[in-house]
Amino acid sequence: MDLAQNYNYKIVKQFAIATVVWGIIGMLVGVIIAAQLAWPALNLDIPWLTYGRLRPLHTNAVIFAFGICGLFATSYYVVQRTCQVRLFSDKLAAFTFWGWQAVIVSAVVTLPMGLTRGKEYAELEWPITLLIAVVWIAYAVVFFGTLLTRKVKHVYVANWFFAGYIIAVTILHVVNGASMPATLFKSYSAYSGVQDAMIQWWYGHNAVGFILTAGYLGMVYYFIPKQAERPVYSYRLSIVHFWALIFTYMWAGPHHLHYTALPDWTQSIGMVFSLILLAPSWGGMINGIMTLSGAWHKLRTDPILKFMIVSLSFYGMATFEGPMMSIKTVNALSHYTDWGIAHVHGGALGWVGFITMGSIYYLLPRLAGQQKMYSTKLIDLHFWVATIGIVLYIAAMWIAGVMQGLMWRAVNPDGTLTYTFVEGVKATYPYYVVRFAGGLLYLSGMCVMGYNTWMTLRNRETAVARIPALTAGHA
Ligand code: HEM
Ligand code: HEM
Repeated sequence: MDLAQNYNYKIVKQFAIATVVWGIIGMLVGVIIAAQLAWPALNLDIPWLTYGRLRPLHTNAVIFAFGICGLFATSYYVVQRTCQVRLFSDKLAAFTFWGWQAVIVSAVVTLPMGLTRGKEYAELEWPITLLIAVVWIAYAVVFFGTLLTRKVKHVYVANWFFAGYIIAVTILHVVNGASMPATLFKSYSAYSGVQDAMIQWWYGHNAVGFILTAGYLGMVYYFIPKQAERPVYSYRLSIVHFWALIFTYMWAGPHHLHYTALPDWTQSIGMVFSLILLAPSWGGMINGIMTLSGAWHKLRTDPILKFMIVSLSFYGMATFEGPMMSIKTVNALSHYTDWGIAHVHGGALGWVGFITMGSIYYLLPRLAGQQKMYSTKLIDLHFWVATIGIVLYIAAMWIAGVMQGLMWRAVNPDGTLTYTFVEGVKATYPYYVVRFAGGLLYLSGMCVMGYNTWMTLRNRETAVARIPALTAGHA
């Protein structure tokens, strides 16, 4: 019997569709706030639509809805295929889907209402934070339960990365989420002052390290070899850089708190570990790209592979830039400026976005019982529109960021500031317009993916419906 019939593909399909839908919504909100920064009147004087409320909605929608639904879909698929066993519990898996959608919908309602814990990437108020913990534990039970009941002895490396991400997120979420509820919608952090800041950025940085990095490396190690039809370049390197990466990430958080009340030595430790982090990060990038050895020609005709390989290039770029920005003297220029936003979106749009899109394009036809996506040309169109979008976005923000940093620190011979703050804002305006255009292109690409997804899934229905008709015709 075909093993595939034994797998739970329904849950993978649900999460894959959710990834595409939330991707469009999260990026749309990104484009709206990008427009608001260029044309503030777009706040429309409606509290629900103000920048301060929509910004966390954007980050939550792209990271927790688009990003994590993609990780649910791929981890559930990969763990079944590589362990050759069905998911540990279908019911619990279905609970993770509906539970996670409930978390997202609660975020969509409460964030525009202005309900927030005030911690970046951990904004959701305590009842939702509790729900996240319950869903996450169910996720861990399904994933590790499946690993434990596996039919093959070896645990494939992609599962190591998914496992690391699931365990680390549990710890981060519980520790940073600790708070004292005051009312149903208001709570106070269990920590205070600089300890609170340190816990927050230990969490924040490891959200980057374990969600936005380790989880997606899990995708790299399964989907790139599959799509390229080549084995992983160096399996040994994959294990070495896994351990080096998870050990090092944990200590790098203080680079978010340079020149603050945090003890100076703690900041320096954060900087040193960030510099060390370059090595394991590039180990993963090189291993992924070299997996294409002997199959480079496929890049000419396979847009899915293009998404995957370009994503690794952006990963390499962001993990070079990050250690540089963590050097205190560089951070003195980059912090608070749009350089940070360029760094974030090089990683987010290029790395996280592209590897997710590539992996979902790989999955969709398989989940829909098709040979390939409805249109390969549309995948190629998506790739090019999105790539141009990213370049516009990050180039504009790099220039704007360095310009802002230099303008803010410029002083006249008598010690007064050369520029007023508003002069810096005015000089940034054209770059905000370019970023808006780049974002719009990226969003358009995602809409093309939405259409292609719809048609691929619809084709399945048509294909199934056509079978009796064809039989009748032949008879
Ligand atoms: C070796 C790897 C990396 C290092 C050492 C690193 C370092 C840094 C530094 C120094 C900052 C600026 C902190 C500040 O001035 O406030 C930063 C911000 C950020 N980085 Fe990275 N980065 C790395 C990789 C990545 C990747 C792959 C992503 C993926 C998207 C990413 C996402 C972010 C985000 C979201 C922020 C903004 C945090 C905030 O202030 O809200 N980083 N990173
Ligand atoms: C159409 C695509 C997108 C557009 C136009 C966009 C736009 C924006 C804008 C305007 C901001 C606020 C910048 C500021 O405060 O100065 C922002 C922040 C952010 N976005 Fe996006 N975004 C997009 C996609 C994404 C994606 C796909 C991700 C993650 C996977 C992401 C992650 C973030 C994060 C983490 C921040 C907060 C950065 C920080 O605090 O330093 N964005 N985005």
